[in-house]
Amino acid sequence: MRYAWIAIALATACGRTEPAKPAACPPATPCPPVATPAPIVPPAPTPPAAADCAAPTGANPVQTEMRRLECALQQAVAAIGRDELPAIAHQLHVVHAAKEATAQAIAAGTWAPATGDVKAFVALDQAFHRELEALVEASMARDHAAAAAALGRTLGGCQGCHAAFRPAAPAPTAPAPAAAPHDHAH
Ligand code: HEC
Repeated sequence: MRYAWIAIALATACGRTEPAKPAACPPATPCPPVATPAPIVPPAPTPPAAADCAAPTGANPVQTEMRRLECALQQAVAAIGRDELPAIAHQLHVVHAAKEATAQAIAAGTWAPATGDVKAFVALDQAFHRELEALVEASMARDHAAAAAALGRTLGGCQGCHAAFRPAAPAPTAPAPAAAPHDHAH
């Protein structure tokens, strides 16, 4: 039964190349080579396509800014590893534009932090963006050490602002399951 299927498969395969002479290709004989296949050249490894950090949007200007910031800093890590530092500056321009939109919304009174004082928020935001500018300058200068240090300072600034100005996460509806004892021995 199995051989019958193979025979049919071979006959079908050969029939495709030589439709007029199926007898020239009996099932037991392998098909003659039709043409030398071109050598398969594996494609050169390409880096993952850079994300378009202008794409994410949120429910308000700050959420949009934050999503783009998160994207841009992920790209910054990739750019440091791939020695493409100027790409960092490009991504951070997107964040800067989003920050301008936030500033306009604050000035127009259409956005204010859920908690805390607006003026304190603006001061913290400006200090934070100065760190981002240092990151831009270091990346334009292709200065790896300075870019990595500025990236570290930038990441160090996230939680301080979130703790003061970010709306609290919604309370869990169900009690969280008891945490399993964590095994540090491995
Ligand atoms: C100057 C203040 C400030 C700084 C600095 C800041 N954030 Fe935020 N971030 C906020 C606020 C305010 C929100 C809440 C926005 C909302 O939900 O309306 C937020 C929300 C977020 C969110 C959630 C966005 C969403 O999808 O709802 C992410 C992700 C985030 N921040 C990332 C970061 C990262 C990463 C850094 C540091 C590199 C950072 N933020 C630094 C103020 C800040």
